[in-house]
Order: sequence, then C-alpha cells, then structure tokens
Amino acid sequence: MLASYPPGRQRSAVVPMLIFAQDEVGSITPELVQEVAKRCGVQPVQVEECVTYYSMLRKKPLGKYHVQICTNISCLLNGGEELWKRACEQTGLGHKQVSADGMVSLEEVECIGACSWAPALQVNYDFEHLVTPERLDEILAACRKGDYVEKAK
Ligand code: FES
Repeated sequence: MLASYPPGRQRSAVVPMLIFAQDEVGSITPELVQEVAKRCGVQPVQVEECVTYYSMLRKKPLGKYHVQICTNISCLLNGGEELWKRACEQTGLGHKQVSADGMVSLEEVECIGACSWAPALQVNYDFEHLVTPERLDEILAACRKGDYVEKAK
C-alpha cells in the first residue's frame, strides 16, 4: 500500500491502512494506532486524529453484520426514517449499538451515495436499494441468524 503513494507521501496511506486493519481486527486498537503510525512515518497522535474524525473508523467492535440505514434527504422522503425506527424497534438497538450476541449492530448514517434508489441501506459493504419494510425485516432476520449473504465479499 505504501508503494502506491509518491515518495514522502506515505502519510496518505493512514486512513486506507486503518480501514484494512479494522476489517481484519474488528476495531482500531491502541496497538494498531502505533503500528500504522510507525509504517506511515507519522506520530501516533496523528493517527488518533484520523480515528476520531472519520465516522467509519471505530474503537469498539460492531456487529458481525453492521446495518447502516440512511435517513438523509432522499431516503428521508422515501421512508428511510420509518426504516430506521422499525430496525430499532425490531432489534431493541439504537445508534451504534450492538446486539448481545454480537451478530447485529445498527447505525443511522448520512447519505451513502445511493439517492437514486432511496431508501437505501448498507450491510457491511453491501448496498440494499429501494428497501421496503418487508425487505428490511428479511435483512434483519438473516443477519440475526447469521445467513445474510454478502455480495461484496
Ligand atoms: S440520501 Fe440516502 S443514499 Fe443519499
């Protein structure tokens, strides 16, 4: 990864390296911060700044299936908020909370770039478009059972 940046610009690899590391480990640990800082030639505090700034980076593990429901304008106008409330009711979870068994976590997110297919949500790296309440129920049930099929994997 470092070789794909121009000489002297290895610091540009901090965020992508953190994302890869988070996918591997489950969250950004203090050890990861130290390692990424060392590899990218920056101070650990600079890595910490990235971790606290970017909402996709997290210090605590989320669920095996992280369900991110968009409630931004296009989705809001097409039922996104109803989907969010329904997901909260069905799972008993709130924003960035994880089920006791670690299978599901929920997050209310800003636009995920799928406005033309609103309401949209994401399960890990998979997009779900034009989501109906019935489809949301199917998604959540599959995530709880552990058999949600991730197309992006
Ligand atoms: S507003 Fe929901 S995907 Fe853009």
